[in-house]
Amino acid sequence: MDESHGLTVALIKLGGSVLTNKSRLRSFSETEARRLALEMKEFISRSRYHRLVLVHGGGSFGHIRAKKYNLSAGLREESQLHGFAQVRNDMRDLNSKIVSILIESGIPAISFPPETFLRVHGGRVIKSEAGLLEKCVGAGLVPVSFGDAVIDTRQSFSILSGDAVMLSMSSMVHPSISVFCTDVDGVFDSNPRLSANSRLIPRLRESDRVSTDATGTDDVTGGMGGKLKFLFEIAHNSGRTVVLNGLVPLRLRETLAGRDATSTEVVPTRRRPGKKASRRSGYI
Ligand code: IPE
Repeated sequence: MDESHGLTVALIKLGGSVLTNKSRLRSFSETEARRLALEMKEFISRSRYHRLVLVHGGGSFGHIRAKKYNLSAGLREESQLHGFAQVRNDMRDLNSKIVSILIESGIPAISFPPETFLRVHGGRVIKSEAGLLEKCVGAGLVPVSFGDAVIDTRQSFSILSGDAVMLSMSSMVHPSISVFCTDVDGVFDSNPRLSANSRLIPRLRESDRVSTDATGTDDVTGGMGGKLKFLFEIAHNSGRTVVLNGLVPLRLRETLAGRDATSTEVVPTRRRPGKKASRRSGYI
């Protein structure tokens, strides 16, 4: 599903750090959500062939309790069950808040939990079903999926990141553009939270070598190394792939309009057969 089918699909991840205050349990950033909804509404209003597919992260509705109960590791002891139930419920609560705001902003958004179209085994997506997603996007509805506490056929449950959901969706809808809205300007050559000298990388190529320092993070879904891997895989399925600061007004709107905005463009390179990809990292 792409321009050759007459549709221009924008696949957008609204990061948990944009929609929530990541350090305060279940604190929702309603103002940011409303502003981003209007920026996205402009995109679908511009053409009847424009389509949106959305994914949001967990932020403080997901990561805090997922870490406390060690949910990524799967079921190990009974005490985790309560935590799993809470995170699953909190993510539906966050999703419902976001979908409500999108609908109020004039976007025909529908909740699209990952288990509607994905099966997870050992923390990884092993099966996907594109039919429902294609129908709903084709009709003009806007599916809103999310990183979630999911049933796992190997380890009873696990945490599936919004980035993993983005990857699966990108392989199904082949977006014209995939956008990651984060709380920093893009991918940096070193951690911008730790170093004043870190520089934004405007175009990040798969062959680029950037700093590989480790960062301390509370994220339960893989940290920076994992994120970059997803970014490049998603870039292989997308026309353009952009990482931008969703907290700065108009960056998303300008990017969706094809105009320049401060960001990182992720540029995949075709790998030569038999050649191993070099190690790379960076910071969002
Ligand atoms: C996390 O998804 C989902 C849960 C912890 C339940 P993400 O890892 O994509 O969330 P953010 O965007 O980093 O907050």
